Amino acid sequence: MKVGNENYRSLWFDPAHPGEVKVIDQRLLPWELRIEVLSSAEDVYLAIRDMMVRGAPVIGALASFGMYLYAFNHSTDLHLKENLDHIAEYLISSRPTAVNLAHAVHRQQEAYTPLDDHDRIIGAMRDEAVSFTEAEVEASRRIGEHGVTLLEELAEQKKGQHINILTHCNAGWLATIDYGTALAPVYEAFLRGLKVHVWVDETRPRNQGARLTMWELQEAGVPCTLIADNTGGHLMQQGLVDIVLTGSDRTTRTGDTANKIGTYLKALAARDNNIPFYVALPVSSIDPEISNGMLEIPIEERPPTEITVMEGMWHDEYRKVNIVPEETPVSNYAFDVTPASLITGLITERGICGANEEEIMGMLKDE
Ligand code: MRU
Repeated sequence: MKVGNENYRSLWFDPAHPGEVKVIDQRLLPWELRIEVLSSAEDVYLAIRDMMVRGAPVIGALASFGMYLYAFNHSTDLHLKENLDHIAEYLISSRPTAVNLAHAVHRQQEAYTPLDDHDRIIGAMRDEAVSFTEAEVEASRRIGEHGVTLLEELAEQKKGQHINILTHCNAGWLATIDYGTALAPVYEAFLRGLKVHVWVDETRPRNQGARLTMWELQEAGVPCTLIADNTGGHLMQQGLVDIVLTGSDRTTRTGDTANKIGTYLKALAARDNNIPFYVALPVSSIDPEISNGMLEIPIEERPPTEITVMEGMWHDEYRKVNIVPEETPVSNYAFDVTPASLITGLITERGICGANEEEIMGMLKDE
């Protein structure tokens, strides 16, 4: 996607510099667009754990490069494959909820396990990281093409009025390398000349909506309005939301979906107001091994300071301020699970399907 006149991805690899991968430091947006160079598995682990790079699809692709970088940097290691298995566990432990990460790392393990020659291992792992990344970009593009059909139907019903879309967190190109999941249909609709307007939940505690989604949409020129997290229900009651679109960090074989904390409450409000609630995701976000999202999806808990401290710019000066009484006990759950029963449909690169086992497993068998 474009920032100013330049095309960017949130992660990229240049074969001329085989010992590094470049990423946008998402912690500094919207104030600064800083590119960071990562050159080891540890760099990658820290970038994911500390949210320099966040969003399920892009952390999967980055973890894949993390595995490759380890092999690249340890080409003379006599126990390379054994150590890669440890690095796999280490990278998977950086963030527990998004299944894309484990999925990407396991694919790397499948790439090196049958090989013995180190040069061949490194080559195969580089190719795997590159093709995994390109496949995620293509998946996002196709999610946009499938999802836009829903917005085109709404445009017909609204007869020239704006379509109001509500989204939570950031499920745009920053989270997915390019295009987005929930935002991909919005970008496609905007390109096709549909009148779209996005309500952007601020998404406490880290404010991915306020900081990242607002920045992305404004850069693209898509009309959007920031709202406090608890505003969605009111807007729905007033007839000001036509569709809710969110992303997913892990979707079970039965369609239960984990996404940023607060997503479940939007789904409840959408159901109460008869508003379609769609989840957009690449199939790499589906975990076919599990059936009950509420019981089986691990929910990440993050540091209390994400809630107790706010950060931002004040007259060109970056500041952090404490907003609670000292010694405040805090629970910081990063995700919640929306049960399949509240989800109107899943938008994937293979098409739109119901949030149920038959359709999800049928779709997974397709390719
Ligand atoms: O904690 P984050 O910012 O990594 O959470 C991200 C989300 O919840 C996104 O909605 C999700 O990864 C889907 S993005 C394509």
